[in-house]
Amino acid sequence: LIVDSPASMAVTAADIFAKTAKDCVGRKGRFAVAISGGSTPRATHRLLAEQPYRSEIPWTAVHIFWVDERCVPQDSKASNYGVAKKDLVDRVPILPQQVHPMTGDTSPEQAAIAYQKKLKAFFRADKGGLPIFDLIFLGVGKDGHTASMFPGQQALDEKENWVVAVKGGDPDVSRITMTYPVLNRASQVVLFVSGKQKAAVVKAVLEDKHTDLPAQRIQPANGKLTWLLDHDAASLLSN
Ligand code: 6PG
Repeated sequence: LIVDSPASMAVTAADIFAKTAKDCVGRKGRFAVAISGGSTPRATHRLLAEQPYRSEIPWTAVHIFWVDERCVPQDSKASNYGVAKKDLVDRVPILPQQVHPMTGDTSPEQAAIAYQKKLKAFFRADKGGLPIFDLIFLGVGKDGHTASMFPGQQALDEKENWVVAVKGGDPDVSRITMTYPVLNRASQVVLFVSGKQKAAVVKAVLEDKHTDLPAQRIQPANGKLTWLLDHDAASLLSN
């Protein structure tokens, strides 16, 4: 999906969030979403806290998880939870027990184990107990990373663990990230990318068959994948 500006991208992403939330809550009484950090999703998060989304979304049945987290204090501006708390969580009527931040304040390894336990407990009641998110929002970095899955790192080949500790990115700190066994099981994944500075990586990820970038490995086994780009991010694509 190519839209004309970052503002339209935020509207499109908020529409997808609202529609999926309503469908899922109507069908099974619950909507489980995992969101990313970085700057791109901030406009979407803020929009979700405004009308009509604020009233339309059945917040009491929404569970928000995080795709990844930097191991920094929650009040740091680098904290994915801290930023989303201000932009979204604090501004909508979601139940506190349905907000599931990753905690970076213990050791990253312990935090990854704890989050995996949390996911196992949450999805236990579902058929098969697999971590099938209704929606996952992902961003992409200029180096082709997504979530905190960075090029060349061991975490890319993780097959068993749902959440692992890694180090890297900007800021270059310890992080906790969901792995492909979770990311590629979602019912719906939306990768959203905006800006000219991401045009080269978008082209590489979508058109270069000879690279192995982390974002290229996002291929939901049974789910829907949407690339949501603005014109600038899509400007180098061939068609
Ligand atoms: C993180 C992210 C990361 C992010 C991309 C894009 O915690 O760093 O989850 O994967 O989505 O780096 O970030 P921007 O939107 O800031 O470009």
